[in-house]
Parts: sequence; structure tokens; C-alpha cells
Amino acid sequence: MERKGFNSNFGMIMAAVGSAVGLGNIWRFPYIVGTNGGGAFLLVYVLICLVIGVPILMSEILIGRRAKSDCVDSFKKLAPGKKWYISGIIAVIASFLILSFYSVVAGWSLEYIYRSLTNAFAGKSPEEISNLFTGFISSPIRPIAWTFVFMLMTMLIVRSGIDKGIEKVSKIAIPILLLIVICLGIRGLTLEGGREGLHFLFYPDFSKFTMAGFLAALGHSFFTLSLGMAIMTTYGSYVSDDNNIVKSAFSIAFFDTLIAILAGIAIFTSVFTFNLDPTQGAGLAFVTLPNVFPRMPGGYLFGVAFFVLLALAALTSTISLLESSVAFGVDSLKLSRKKASVLAAIGIFLLSILSSLSNGANSSLQIAGLTFFDFLDKLTSNYMLTSAAFIEIIFLGWFYDKEAIFDELSNHHTLEQKAFKAYYLALKYITPLAMVLIILSSLGILKS
Ligand code: PHE
Ligand code: NA
Repeated sequence: MERKGFNSNFGMIMAAVGSAVGLGNIWRFPYIVGTNGGGAFLLVYVLICLVIGVPILMSEILIGRRAKSDCVDSFKKLAPGKKWYISGIIAVIASFLILSFYSVVAGWSLEYIYRSLTNAFAGKSPEEISNLFTGFISSPIRPIAWTFVFMLMTMLIVRSGIDKGIEKVSKIAIPILLLIVICLGIRGLTLEGGREGLHFLFYPDFSKFTMAGFLAALGHSFFTLSLGMAIMTTYGSYVSDDNNIVKSAFSIAFFDTLIAILAGIAIFTSVFTFNLDPTQGAGLAFVTLPNVFPRMPGGYLFGVAFFVLLALAALTSTISLLESSVAFGVDSLKLSRKKASVLAAIGIFLLSILSSLSNGANSSLQIAGLTFFDFLDKLTSNYMLTSAAFIEIIFLGWFYDKEAIFDELSNHHTLEQKAFKAYYLALKYITPLAMVLIILSSLGILKS
């Protein structure tokens, strides 16, 4: 059965890398490396990606390609009459909710492109730069306007379809993104703090590595590969039968990690050159770095490039998040693609207004002691993604036909029995165990 989807395997990989590479790589990864002891964290993180991230990624792609439908309908097809599709529903709702706050941060990156272009940080003290950030995100109109622009772009791309929209944009955006991050990395290495930055990022000091670091690495490997959000399953449904899923999954994880490391190099070399705090946390990209660029030769250009990088990374992720909901609208609800794109985008944008306002004017709008923005973040990453993925893995590893999995993974390709055994072992035992650890720790039962 032919389903209209990606035109080429390269296009599919670029789209999936686009989804994977996002704010998580450029904004979140460096600061969790920073707060968890640098190189030791990195090492554990890479291992976790290989043992847990890649097998789950393969699983999601193969479910989608086997069933060739959106994430909810896929489970209905693979397990008729059973309730496994609930994991798909959780995943689709999660992607909807995530997009509503992710697009707010994505909008910030547009403001920061504008600010770098207009040299807004030149001659400002660290304190003023920090105030510029908090002032901006807490203002009522401006961040929402940028979020709107971002959602509009996202919607227009998704509305154009998989090959003419998502694939086309990703095939251009990802190579540009890679080029920018390589240039920024090389620039960083030539700075005075280059050595120190590399040491920080790569030297494995296990005395600084804690249980909290291990759990952070687990959680991040999950978020960074866009797992548990119906995305890879949906993209998998648009993948041709001759695509080598094993190879694709490894390539996606490879590029995701490569770009995160390059971003880390770019950021930490600059941070050490200017004696800033590498453990600054979430403010690293929007508060720490704007201090750096005006002080470095050629900083104007590198500053603009950095925020363009952030915006491109965010855009290829927001289109994948929107596609989750749109595919559900098209396949499960039988809407036209145009209608599904517009409706989903409007719903998400309305929700994003609340998220944005909760950083300022409406910070009193709180749920469970968290701002609306933080609440959605916690709810989705701590509970929804993990439970969706957990159910999906249990289904595939324990209740689905092993032969069918082998068949789907090896489709037109040679797959060594040994490699399959390793994958199946990970699927059946290791990944569910990891998911349980993540869930327990987010419930606060497993103390770090
Ligand atoms: N993987 C993306 C990142 O690292 C985040 C993301 C999450 C993208 C969920 C899409 C969906 O930033
Ligand atoms: Na990522």
C-alpha cells in the first residue's frame, strides 16, 4: 500500500533530524551538561542514547511504517480491538501541549535575532542584559506577537504537506544549521577559553557525577530524540518500505548528538573565555551568551548566526510537533490536511498565549504551585511522554509479534540475528526499566 510521504530517505532523515535537533540541543543540553559535571555526564549520556534512545526510536519508526497511519490509528491497526491506542492519544495530546509552550521560546529566538541585528546588547552590563530578558518575556504583547509569527510559519509549512512542506524545508534548514554550528564551534575553539571549555565538556570527572545526573541524562535522551510524542511514529508512517530503519535511527541519533556537542563547544568556549558561569542554567542562551558576543571580535555576525541557529532548530521541531496533531486530524478524524493544520495551529496558539502571559502579567495563573508555562512543561515531559512511551514499548516488546518486528526492521535489508537480538533485549527489558526509573524519579519516589 502506498502512502504519500517523504520523497527520499535523505529527506526523511533530514526531517527526523530536524525534529530531534531543537532547543533541547542548543539551549537545554549545554546547561544540563553544565550543571551535571561536564564530561562524565556526556559519557553517560552517549551510552544511554545508544542503549535506550536508539531502540525506542527504531520502535516508534517501525510502528508507524508497519501501520502507515497516524499514531493513534497505527495502534488500532496493529492491535485491533485492544486499548493500546491510548498511548497514541496521550502522545498526540502531549505534542499539542508541548508545542504551545515550545513555540513561546521559539518566538523568543526571533526577538533575539532582531536584537542582535540591531546591536541591542552592545555596551550593556550583565545586569542590564539580564533585565532585558526578563523584561521581554514578561511583557504582555511582544512575545505573543513573535509566537504568532512562529506558529504561522509552522502552520504554512505543515499545511503544504510532507514532501512539499516538511521535507523541503528540512533539506534546506538542516545543512544550514549544521554549517552555522560548525562555524560557531570553530570560532569558539580559537578563543582564549577554548581549552578550558573543551576540558569542561569532555573531561570525565566522575566525582561530580550524581544520581541526579544519571536521571537527567535519561530524561534528556528521551526529550532530545523527540520520543513519546507521536512524532517519530508519524514520520515513520511516511517512510518508504525500502528505508533501512536501523540505519536511519542511528543517523538521527548521531546528528542529534553531534549538533548538541558542537553547540556545547561553541557555548562553553565562549563562557570560559569571558569568565562567565557555565552552570547558569536556563539563562545560558538568552542571558549569558548576549554578554559574550559584543565582546568577541566578529561578535556581531556570530551573535546573529547563533540566534538564527536557534530559530531554525526550533522551526524544524515545531513543524514535527504540529504534524503529530495534523496527522491525527487527517487519518483518525478524516479532516483535510488544510483544515487540520489551521485548526490545530489556532488551538495551540490560543494555549500559547496563556503560557506566555504566565511569565509576566498572569504569573498568578498557577497550577500546582507552578506557572502555567512550567506546569505544561512538567506535565508533558515528566508524565505524558514517559507514559506514552512506556505503554508503546510494553506493547511492542511483550504483546506484538516478534517475527513481524524482525520483518519490518530487516525489510529489504540484511539484519544480523545478533543485532536483532540486541535490539529485542533492549526493547523487552532495558527500555521499560529505564522508563520506570524516569517515571519514579519524576514522581519523587526515587530520590536523587
Ligand atoms: N527534540 C527536540 C529538542 O531537542 C525537542 C522536541 C520535543 C521536539 C518534542 C519535538 C517534540 O529540542
Ligand atoms: Na534534540
